[in-house]
Amino acid sequence: MNADDRLIVALDVPNLLDGGKIIDILGDSVSFYKIGLGMLTGGGLALANELKDNGYKVFLDMKFFDIGATVEKAVLGISQYNFDFLTVHGDPHVVRAAVKGRGDSSTKILAVTILTSLDRNDLDESLIKSGRITDLVTERAKNAFKAGADGVIASPQEAALIRALPESQGKLIITPGVRPDGSKVGDQKRITTPSEAIKNGADHIVIGRPIWASKDPLSATKEILNELKNI
Ligand code: C5P
Repeated sequence: MNADDRLIVALDVPNLLDGGKIIDILGDSVSFYKIGLGMLTGGGLALANELKDNGYKVFLDMKFFDIGATVEKAVLGISQYNFDFLTVHGDPHVVRAAVKGRGDSSTKILAVTILTSLDRNDLDESLIKSGRITDLVTERAKNAFKAGADGVIASPQEAALIRALPESQGKLIITPGVRPDGSKVGDQKRITTPSEAIKNGADHIVIGRPIWASKDPLSATKEILNELKNI
């Protein structure tokens, strides 16, 4: 599959039938899909396996968070399918357990730093320690790398700071919170355009609603790929 796999399309549609329709529409222009919690409860795991069998790359966005022993078991179970990326929350005990559970599987463990839909008010409400969000994200990224994460999920606004960390050498930075110029922001709060995200150091960008909720998902995708062409 020759598509630019820096673009990962988030299939946040309700079920595998709707997901299949988007995949058919996008055809050869996309080779990497993200299946997250919304879709997982609507048959997403079956679709993830089907995608893998058909040569696509698959990012399973499970955002695991639990006691270490449980995370380890959950990751051990899912790792037998050799999906490309799997997310857990970036708390070091969770990352360590996930890396242990992953064992020899090729699945890369990605740590969520701070959701791109949250701002400082949200963090205050959740009693997260004070400080600038960018500093907290950078600190969480550093700790996740030290705990063995293969990469982190962060806002494209924070990608450059993370890329500058010595601990990020050889690690992946994946950024949701990406909005092509003129598209609806939705609940995302810490966003950039696709090209800015890559210039800031992202290895992959995750884009959902601007593609699957578009009247013309294929044109929306092609515009994004065009924007990335010379970067
Ligand atoms: O539709 P949109 O482009 O906002 O989709 C972004 C995707 O990335 C969603 O599936 C969301 O769950 C996911 N995500 C995120 N922020 C994170 C981690 C994952 O928006 N920190």
